[in-house]
Amino acid sequence: MRVVLSLGGSVLAPDLDADRVAGHADAIERVAREGCDVGVVVGGGGVAREYIGAARGLGANEVALDRLGIGVTRLNARLLAAGFGEGLDPTLATGYDDAETAIRRGDTAVMGGVTPGLTTDAVAAVLAESVGADLLVYGTGADGVYDADPAEHDDARKFDTLTPTELVERIAPMSRDAGASAPVDLPAAKLIERAGMRTIVLDGTDPQAVEDAILTGAHTGTDVVPEGTDEPSYWAH
Ligand code: UTP
Repeated sequence: MRVVLSLGGSVLAPDLDADRVAGHADAIERVAREGCDVGVVVGGGGVAREYIGAARGLGANEVALDRLGIGVTRLNARLLAAGFGEGLDPTLATGYDDAETAIRRGDTAVMGGVTPGLTTDAVAAVLAESVGADLLVYGTGADGVYDADPAEHDDARKFDTLTPTELVERIAPMSRDAGASAPVDLPAAKLIERAGMRTIVLDGTDPQAVEDAILTGAHTGTDVVPEGTDEPSYWAH
């Protein structure tokens, strides 16, 4: 099975805890050892936001801020790569082509952001489509897609399953509301819809939960299932 994992910066490195990074690297290594071709796209998290906030205070323009953010995502990608043991030598990619070549070769690719104006949510969706991934997984700080912000609404309901079109419909209003943060952003949701990409959105804090979701399909987040598609056959093993 071919899988692209988007790992939020706030999940991988909310602080610089080596054990946490090693836990994520170990889980990815086990997934690769099970025979999956893996691409990992790492986000920038709070550190990226701090850099962007400081540079905005210095009067930097939005593209310059994005480039700072991309720099932090790549730093986090390098940090994750440092967590792999002897058995796995990942390709650290800075663009889609190198990541795609590595994944098609059966290597594990790790990358951060690519282009100003996007986030790593969308980068992961682009990479997943370009390598023909069977599965795209978002390991985020949220445990799925809700009908309202669960931090503000006690009665917010989590969706077990959505179609890609329903995902776009749910994410669009969240993207319009200032301050509200969607578990997957709108450009990524639209790419998922366009590609008809099988996707899982789950709390990525626990590396074991991410591993189980990839290898077995079992998780407590939200499944995004294109209409008329079957489960990845890999899960039947
Ligand atoms: P993230 O993907 O971490 O964005 O990239 P985010 O949505 O703020 O992160 P989470 O999900 O809350 O952790 C950090 C920043 O890097 C720039 C953007 O400015 C983004 O906000 N970036 C990232 C790009 O401009 N292009 C990319 O391809 C990736």
